[in-house]
Amino acid sequence: GAGGALSGIKAVVTAGPTREPIDPVRFITNRSSGKMGYALAAALRARGAEVVLISGPTSLATPAGVARVDVETAAQMLDATRSAAVDAQMLVGTAAVADYRVDAVAEHKIKKRDDGAQLSLVKNPDILAELRAAQPDLFIVGFAAETEKLAEHARDKLARKKLDLIAANWVGDGKAFDRDDNALQVFWPGGERALAQAAKTDLARELAALIAERYQARTAN
Ligand code: PMT
Repeated sequence: GAGGALSGIKAVVTAGPTREPIDPVRFITNRSSGKMGYALAAALRARGAEVVLISGPTSLATPAGVARVDVETAAQMLDATRSAAVDAQMLVGTAAVADYRVDAVAEHKIKKRDDGAQLSLVKNPDILAELRAAQPDLFIVGFAAETEKLAEHARDKLARKKLDLIAANWVGDGKAFDRDDNALQVFWPGGERALAQAAKTDLARELAALIAERYQARTAN
């Protein structure tokens, strides 16, 4: 539609961190407040999409008109994303998913030992790659959080995970995480665009417009 409308489109958005338990009182997690993902969910909704937000633990309010499913672990996020995406056209992965989980979660609180401790980790499934394999026609937008070689790593993730678009941001040094503003370098097969530093709500509106544009360009082919 004109102006990049997304009415009639169902979009699933993952946001926030995941939590991988170690024992009943401890967990491993990634940095993410959920602000970027929640802003994007709201911006896609504002363009007319039906939006399901699959959220790790955050302290944010659910955007108006958005359906939210709360999860903790990457495995739960994968299950919830699979279920919600079955009849969706679009998946946007803003979540900071833990790449590893603890191999054997302790049933009881682990006791302190003077000689230190080791954790054995196993790899978590990649949610975007799993969904690409399950639904080849899904329009999938990924994010890339990088501390070096941003363009190179983002383009590599775009190709390796067979994404339709990827939004890359610099992290570390006080950038991106938790803040109310961010900047994005967006890549797709055959193009790229820089979205300058702005409030995450404004940046999300610009990215939603670009997503709608690329979605329509793909559908037109
Ligand atoms: O939440 P905020 O405080 O607002 O911060 C926003 C943000 C920096 C977290 C966000 O803009 C961002 O970059 N999100 C992606 C973080 C990330 O984990 O990136 P990655 O480069 O490790 O992962 C690449 C892509 O694969 C991402 O779309 C990620 O959701 C996805 N992924 C990663 C691992 C995994 N097991 N499954 C996945 O689907």
